[in-house]
Amino acid sequence: DNGGYEHYLLKEISEQPDTVARTLRGRIDDRFHIAHLGGLNMDARETRSFRRVKIIGCGSAYYSGQMGAQLIEELARIPADAEPASEFRYRSPVVEPDTLYVAISQSGETYDTLAAVQELKRKGGRVLGIVNTVGSAIARETDGGIYLHAGPEVSVASTKAFTSTAVAFALLALHLGRVRDLSPADGRRICEGLRRLPEQIKEILTLEDRIKELAKKYADSPGMMFVGRVRGYPVAREGAQKLKEISYVHAEAYPASELKHGPLALISPELPTVAIVPDDELLDKNLTTLGEIRARHGRILMVGHRTSEAADDCIVVPKNEVELDPILLTIPLQLFAYHAAVALERDVDRPRNLAKSVTVE
Ligand code: BG6
Repeated sequence: DNGGYEHYLLKEISEQPDTVARTLRGRIDDRFHIAHLGGLNMDARETRSFRRVKIIGCGSAYYSGQMGAQLIEELARIPADAEPASEFRYRSPVVEPDTLYVAISQSGETYDTLAAVQELKRKGGRVLGIVNTVGSAIARETDGGIYLHAGPEVSVASTKAFTSTAVAFALLALHLGRVRDLSPADGRRICEGLRRLPEQIKEILTLEDRIKELAKKYADSPGMMFVGRVRGYPVAREGAQKLKEISYVHAEAYPASELKHGPLALISPELPTVAIVPDDELLDKNLTTLGEIRARHGRILMVGHRTSEAADDCIVVPKNEVELDPILLTIPLQLFAYHAAVALERDVDRPRNLAKSVTVE
């Protein structure tokens, strides 16, 4: 049942105030400013014991894992990184006892991710799952984890599961942080920020008409560049992924800092850039990058917390805590990809050559 929406994708994008609230429900402790994550099956001593976090997943799950790695490094100060599950599996990974492994999957059935989990388990690794589908293969094979409670996701391109995964990582990072060095004040700041997310997503959804106009304006470009720095880079990658999956417009994502080391050669009026520019300590650096693109006659759509004359068009989203802003900055890019795909008359919910869940090698 697509609930009266023209496409499941739009329904699932629009559900996000509610699905994020469901991922958070019962998991924020206002007394100690910690997260309650009973499904992790780990006591405080074990939670403190990890010296590294390795995150694996495929497609959008991998990009949400990159966002998660950033959150864990910032809030818990544990080195963390994400890798595509299939790459991880085939390079015969070194499995360390003091590393916490986290496998991400909406369906819980993606073969590459499942096989990586099995390989980790075989080598004695400690693996958590961040999974949407209760009782799925990955949920069963992992030692514990966090369910998203985002409800069934039907459209092939992931939206609400992506967002809920990022929220689950914020909870996990808070949890890991508060048994280490994250102060109660910072814990409270993150708890309050998390609680604001559903309302702020609602506000972003009211920008749909404007985003639709922008999608129409940019959709006939032969390609688009997405750039972001540090926290903004996973946002750029997921934005490019959404656009290429459902509109078939060629989209590349680069760290903004890497532009001048190669891809700047591509910049021209025919290759517009979507720039992720949050109000954080990197704002000035990002605005300088916009100037560099402008100087090559590149068109710019800026997504951030303010407007700038350096950009042709701007989408301004509500501000949260800097660590949580990437979650909100991704939402307009989902709407942008959706309306670009509709404008190009694509099969939005069932894009060519793709399957919702790839259960074969
Ligand atoms: C891909 C889907 O094949 O699998 C993507 O097209 C999805 O949308 C990826 O992100 C991973 O799926 P899952 O179920 O493991 O999160």
